[in-house]
Amino acid sequence: MKTLTELLNKKLEAAFEKCGYSKELAIVTVSDRPDLCQFQCNGAFGGAKLYHKAPRMIAEDVAAVLREDEDLSKAEIAGAGFINIDISDKLLLGFIEQVYTDEKTGVPQAEKPETIVLDYGGPNVAKPLHIGHLRAAVIGEALKRLVRATGRKAIADVHLGDWGLQMGLVMAELEERHPDWECFGDSFDPENCGEFPLTVDEMNEVYPFASAKSKENEEFKEKAKDLTVKMQNGDPRYEYLGREITKISLPDIKKNYENLNVDFDYWYGESDASKYEAELVETLEKKGLLYESEGAMVVDVAKDDDKITVPPVIIKKSDGSSIYATTDLATIVQREKDFAPQGIWYVVDQRQGLHFTQVFRCAEKAGILGETIPEHLGFGTMNGTDGKPYKTRDGGVMKLELLYKTVYDAAMERVKESKFSAEEDKADVARKIAVATIKFGDLINHRAKDYIFDLDKFMAADGKTGSFLLYTVARINSILKKTDESGITAASGVFTDSERDLLLKIALSGEAYALAFKDRAPNIVCENAYQLASSFSKFYHDNHILTEEDEQKKNAWLRACVVLRKVLEKHLDILGIESVDLM
Ligand code: ARG
Repeated sequence: MKTLTELLNKKLEAAFEKCGYSKELAIVTVSDRPDLCQFQCNGAFGGAKLYHKAPRMIAEDVAAVLREDEDLSKAEIAGAGFINIDISDKLLLGFIEQVYTDEKTGVPQAEKPETIVLDYGGPNVAKPLHIGHLRAAVIGEALKRLVRATGRKAIADVHLGDWGLQMGLVMAELEERHPDWECFGDSFDPENCGEFPLTVDEMNEVYPFASAKSKENEEFKEKAKDLTVKMQNGDPRYEYLGREITKISLPDIKKNYENLNVDFDYWYGESDASKYEAELVETLEKKGLLYESEGAMVVDVAKDDDKITVPPVIIKKSDGSSIYATTDLATIVQREKDFAPQGIWYVVDQRQGLHFTQVFRCAEKAGILGETIPEHLGFGTMNGTDGKPYKTRDGGVMKLELLYKTVYDAAMERVKESKFSAEEDKADVARKIAVATIKFGDLINHRAKDYIFDLDKFMAADGKTGSFLLYTVARINSILKKTDESGITAASGVFTDSERDLLLKIALSGEAYALAFKDRAPNIVCENAYQLASSFSKFYHDNHILTEEDEQKKNAWLRACVVLRKVLEKHLDILGIESVDLM
């Protein structure tokens, strides 16, 4: 369905045209002075230049037409020619009912079908997930849901890091420790062998050990590099090892994402793109883009007007190995073949900006993009209260699992005392609160900004927190449980200011979704959800819903509750947050 401002735009366009003015002037915006009016239009100023007329005269002409419209309760001129507009309660109520019955709950839908691949998550096999992976997961999941809510197709691909040096490090260390393992024997046949004996516990211990060792032991480092190249070049033994290490790593990676309600359509890794590397190299060669520089094969991607140096992108290193950019480019070839998308959105740390500039430019020059527009949607860092990247108490890197557990335990403390959930539901409720706390705390910030993870603040029952949103939904549930919900019908009037304010905010949610999509910014959905919840607090305080004796009023207020709950749930769904029944 159309948003409320789109609807008003149409009215204004008709009014401008009726007065003989261009309809291009009719741009309606939500008022930034809600104390004066709900909407405004400044088109008369543009018209003044076009028609050599005082803006006020143009505004008067248009407002006179608008005053005839029953859907508008006010069309006034302010200052030198601003048109201030209020809509009638009848229009507002009708619009709210439409949102309520709309299949898409008022989320504006894409005009034409579109497919967007979302590349988020990006965990690295054999290494534990840490808080650096949190934002990619949380923001990516919300963007995927937002894309889907707008009627577009979203394809989520985790893009596992399984093709880099960490694989060689783990392999080299295992080979030194376990020369007796079948996979390291001379007659090893990956097609016909016993089970790979590595345990999760050993794997978790091997990577940090091997990584530290490679910093002191040059020979070991060279060996790890060599095994990485062997894997990349299709040596069956090391390809096999790579696959097996990934298999052991995946359940743990998946568990971390499950905790957070994050999921993917494809669990592809960098390795899955390797079969497209040859094609990539051939295309680059055919176009004459690839050349040798210091033994490596590179492509120039600098532009004359670059403000910073954009170095050539390396496709093959001198030892024949692929790098991060190679796999990203080959993955573009793969995605074009598999999905032919209109967009690929990379939800990746913004410090990787230069990498994506290089990759996108190279892809463009190579002509492998089809009609795809790639976008790097970078994000900032999650810091601790000291302003530095969030750490464990002893200063170590904070693992994602530990972060989740810390928040879950705090949520459980609260739920334990609660009389609202049955003993057997407590773990589920605590999980939902934990997810809401982590995600809302993250998503309320524009993705590009750093933010401070402050558990007490994030858990607070009011303010811009997940708990506040969950409390709001739970409070509405509790009100509705005390009435016969099936008897609540569409409202026949708006009775109080706080009610009108709430209804208008609900009606304007469509603009928030649209802007969030346009800016790829879930924080706009968060902010709108918060605004709705705080309008509800005022509404609930001002209007004594359950004890109201006037049946019409009571019905209208209950209807507002019913519609708000649906709209809030839509917001939470887009954010990847589940609500709880009672809290
Ligand atoms: N594995 C990478 C890292 O940990 C992130 C991958 C992001 N996605 C991509 N297509 N480059 O930094």
